[in-house]
Amino acid sequence: MIKILFVCLGNICRSPMAEFVFKDMVKKRGLSDLFVISSAATSSEETGNPVHPGTRKKLRQYNISVDGKRAVRLTEKDYQKYDYIIGMEQANIRNMIRIMGEDRDKKVYKLLDFSDNPRDIADPWYTGNFDKTYEDIYEGCEGLLEYILREK
Ligand code: 4NP
Repeated sequence: MIKILFVCLGNICRSPMAEFVFKDMVKKRGLSDLFVISSAATSSEETGNPVHPGTRKKLRQYNISVDGKRAVRLTEKDYQKYDYIIGMEQANIRNMIRIMGEDRDKKVYKLLDFSDNPRDIADPWYTGNFDKTYEDIYEGCEGLLEYILREK
């Protein structure tokens, strides 16, 4: 099993989008059984809340449902639980290390580190641009899956 945790600030916009896009991607390739995929927040601001309507609406265009997902906060224990712990932007990475401690086993990445053009994913909570978020997240998820399948 390859265990992946996507992380952002609130766990209502970007990281659940990445979680469900990646789940859909591996499902379409018949690889779901190989993976455990989840998402979490660095802040407790949105804990217990459902996915943001902007993310829901965007994923609905691709027939991807996020029903049942509620925001949860990242914990120190997640470091042992997952193989890849993937933030959306540099500020996430700093906060993830603050919560989990030093990245001793090199499990912490930024999603677009897996693209040909490494960069941060802007927060649609502030930009309102969920189309751009989706494009960036799709690009990162494709790169991540290719990387994992090469590594296997
Ligand atoms: P996310 O977006 O990190 O992509 O889930 C945000 C959601 C909520 C807040 C900030 C960003 N907030 O400040 O509550």
